[in-house]
Amino acid sequence: MSVINVDYSTKIPNNVGLTEDRTVLRALERWHPGYLDWWMSRGPDGYQDALVYLRTAVSVDPKGWAKFDYIKMPQYRWGILLAPQQEGRTIPFGTHKGEPAWQEIPGEYRAMLRRLVVIQGDTEPASVEQQRYLGKTAPSLYDMRNLFQVNVEEGRHLWAMVYILHKYFGRDGREEAEELLQRRSGSADKPRMLGAFNEATPDWLSFFMFTFFTDRDGKMQLESLAQSGFDPLSRTCRFMLTEEAHHMFVGETGVGRILQRTCEAMKEAGVEDVNDIQAQRALGVIDLPTMQKKLNLHYSLSLDLFGSEVSTNAANSFNSGLKGRFQETKIEDDHTLEQSSYPVLKLVDGEIKRVDEPALTAINMRLRDDYTADCQRGIDRWNKVIERTGIPFRLQLPHVAFHRRIGEFASVCASPTGELMDSGNWERAKDSWLPSPADGDFIASLMRPQYEPAKFASWIEAPRVGIDNKPGDFEYVKLAA
Ligand SMILES: [Fe+2]
Ligand SMILES: [Fe+2]
Repeated sequence: MSVINVDYSTKIPNNVGLTEDRTVLRALERWHPGYLDWWMSRGPDGYQDALVYLRTAVSVDPKGWAKFDYIKMPQYRWGILLAPQQEGRTIPFGTHKGEPAWQEIPGEYRAMLRRLVVIQGDTEPASVEQQRYLGKTAPSLYDMRNLFQVNVEEGRHLWAMVYILHKYFGRDGREEAEELLQRRSGSADKPRMLGAFNEATPDWLSFFMFTFFTDRDGKMQLESLAQSGFDPLSRTCRFMLTEEAHHMFVGETGVGRILQRTCEAMKEAGVEDVNDIQAQRALGVIDLPTMQKKLNLHYSLSLDLFGSEVSTNAANSFNSGLKGRFQETKIEDDHTLEQSSYPVLKLVDGEIKRVDEPALTAINMRLRDDYTADCQRGIDRWNKVIERTGIPFRLQLPHVAFHRRIGEFASVCASPTGELMDSGNWERAKDSWLPSPADGDFIASLMRPQYEPAKFASWIEAPRVGIDNKPGDFEYVKLAA
């Protein structure tokens, strides 16, 4: 069977030869009904009968891997698709650098690898749970379609990780796959594994910020797992990244369209004060200061996903060849890092200072720095949107010490510009840095559905181009009668 074309003859479309792999096929078929139960009970609420114009991955050929069609979400073909195997691929980093990439898991790394796969896997269904109710307040059918596209693909990413668990981890893999359907975002007794994935996504601004910031953490994690010496993991992550790009597109253009609408409305109404929240809100748009606060929140929550700046776990998974750095193969160094150091921001005698740490233990810090640079490029593009309207306002990433719960700065209070302060002062200033309950209420008051083709809610601009080049009045979702 070709690695490019996908076998649709089995219940589970795949390019991993499942028909000849009866044990794994049966294990996945046994897992499937539980997945569908989860999708129906924790996936998009209320739109399971709607016809949604979705893309489905039908190939892993970069030139044409997806096909668009109207489909009911529960009938989406969640498949297992790995990027083609690269002939002669070697392990690109760590103590096994240069050895042939593993097709089976080396026994000594089994536990470490399982943990990496489970943590990645857990984030995928979590975001679907977080976004469960957003369809009810979609600002347009276009946006609703994008939400559901992200949701079905996060579902497929769960499948991707579950396949690895079933195929390579035997009984404990099956147990972990089961657990992935049991945990719930925000649950008190069985929460999802990482903090940001237990936060609420109550409105569409949160959704766009989440797909910009938190899906971008996902991208960085997948990029570093795509470097893995364990070849099946590398290949599955490489294909997931193809889909992930759309999720970040949704976030970036979503926020960009909100900014544009706000600025245009300000210009039309002659509102000049960028800090006059009430004047902006009176126009039925989201004010610029609130946009900055939402950015502060989502960026700081997403930074926590990178873990501790200095971490022996991260060093171990790098050393063992399981998880590399962002674009590992393009970095010019020895890829073993035994002698190198990396600058890490740390608290030293009550001050934030840059300290050289062994590069191996600073792997998380480095990935987080790459993430910040990637975020900054997006912020620059948002600022261009604002600039083009002539409104004198700029969005900024807050300091990495601001509002942290994990790592070096979890124990201190810092302002968005990185000044350390006592908790009393921080608490008093908090509402000017992070969305307050009143800000949340205001955003909630704007969340009214707009289900007419070609129409958009008052607070968001229409996109410049349609999905799959469809015209502006295209009916992206046909709601069930
Ligand atoms: Fe994902
Ligand atoms: Fe994603």
